[in-house]
Amino acid sequence: MSSLSRARIIIDRDFTIGAVPRRIFGSFVEHMGRCVYTGIYEPGHAEADENGFRQDVMKLVKELGVTVVRYPGGNFVSGYNWEDGVGPVGSRPRRLDGAWHTLETNAFGLHEFVDWSRQSGVEIMEAINLGTRGVDAARELVEYANHPGGTFLSDLRKKNGHADPFNIKLWCLGNELDGPWQIGHKTADEYGRLAQEAAKAMRLVDPDLELVACGSSGSSMPTFGAWEQTVLAHAYDEVDYVSLHAYYQEDDGDAASFLASAVDMDYFIDSVVATADAVRAKGKHKKHINLSFDEWNVWYQRRLDSEDQPHQVSKAGWREHPRVIEDAYNVTDAVVVGTLLNSLLRHGDRVKIANQAQLVNVIAPIMSEEDGPAWRQTIFYPFTRMAELANGQILHTKVDSDRYENARFGDTDLVDVSSTWDEENGKIAFFLANRGLEEAANVEVLLRGFDNARLTRAEVLQIPQGHDRLTTNNLQIGEHVGLTTLKDVKAAGHELTFTMPALSWAVVEIEAAKS
Ligand code: AHR
Repeated sequence: MSSLSRARIIIDRDFTIGAVPRRIFGSFVEHMGRCVYTGIYEPGHAEADENGFRQDVMKLVKELGVTVVRYPGGNFVSGYNWEDGVGPVGSRPRRLDGAWHTLETNAFGLHEFVDWSRQSGVEIMEAINLGTRGVDAARELVEYANHPGGTFLSDLRKKNGHADPFNIKLWCLGNELDGPWQIGHKTADEYGRLAQEAAKAMRLVDPDLELVACGSSGSSMPTFGAWEQTVLAHAYDEVDYVSLHAYYQEDDGDAASFLASAVDMDYFIDSVVATADAVRAKGKHKKHINLSFDEWNVWYQRRLDSEDQPHQVSKAGWREHPRVIEDAYNVTDAVVVGTLLNSLLRHGDRVKIANQAQLVNVIAPIMSEEDGPAWRQTIFYPFTRMAELANGQILHTKVDSDRYENARFGDTDLVDVSSTWDEENGKIAFFLANRGLEEAANVEVLLRGFDNARLTRAEVLQIPQGHDRLTTNNLQIGEHVGLTTLKDVKAAGHELTFTMPALSWAVVEIEAAKS
């Protein structure tokens, strides 16, 4: 193969997919490892405010541009009593969290999360426990959170310090209940009926909720497809979204397949859309069920010997906030994350919510040390730029790229792209990944329906000089992987040309007039 591949991209002002669903730039805070404790919350840390919220981490959360945060789990929520996390901190019970073999102090709970979310400027996506609990706890939590006052539970919220309702609109009906590892794992029929009844009871308290039913924990689950069909057959009228979860990793040094992970994400999304629409047709329903990709990321689940792997953590006994799955991300991971974000954005007509799992320390874009600093992982960069610049309409991108062979997905485009157009400020943004491990990519873009193109921003993430694709940002070396200027980008008339280095992620933004 030559050392320069070629990609030709065409966009057209008239060919739009829909408005950018800003909730796809969501994240996830679970009571798991050090995401909450010593992540977003560490009373006594030099950077903590009077609530114990780490301001160094908060600054990075704001810079990341997260729009919505799912809480409090994850597997954790399937054994969680929400009541344990409200009321005077000194009286909250210490509990065993079976999901992650951790001692939960409950020092951080619902009120703290609401305060933290308001300070961070993010919307809350609250998950209820449909593992060990059910309809009653679900409707009581909605009453506690959203009812204005004059009832036992809403007055308890007031007594606990929040006079005004939390007004939480977005709720997950449990977590990964298709998974045998889940506390309270269920069959699709059991879960579908429970989700339907929980949804009804929650809406009787607050009719204004948006509800997410659990879909499959991955496209390789043996029940995938049948699960969605059965759950939606029960709960179609009561829910608004069905969830998807997916984690990707490089297996045995097969970087070529790993870089093509978004092919699986595309397949997963397309299959769930087809299944939801089949249930719609069969049930003669009017509305569409949209998708909530509420857990996705790169996660090295096969690093079995590492001390932060769940089975090693549980061998070490019950501890408060142990290190669990603190993956250090490299350049290859950042490029893959860029392609996964592209897949989500290209499906923005149906994927309306997405949450990168998780926000801090636990497979996260942000790392923090107890009593120490916070820093950006490599995967921080594609997320922060897309969250900042993907506004307005999603554009169809017609890509004619050189391709490469890989073991898992066969023939795959070397250059992957998504694009948005913000009519209000005339800006068009392109988010690109070059999957070529050896080849730089020469990219030509034709802008149909636009003219007078003028470059406003061009940045690239690539392998730093003298390092390899596995290099990470860490405490010792610092943030040496980041964004630098992408040089020699030519924008004029209705054309744009540039070259992306081998294995890189780039953002190119232009201003253009309508033609
Ligand atoms: O994000 C880590 C875990 O992955 C979540 O708790 C669970 O829902 C998923 O299996």
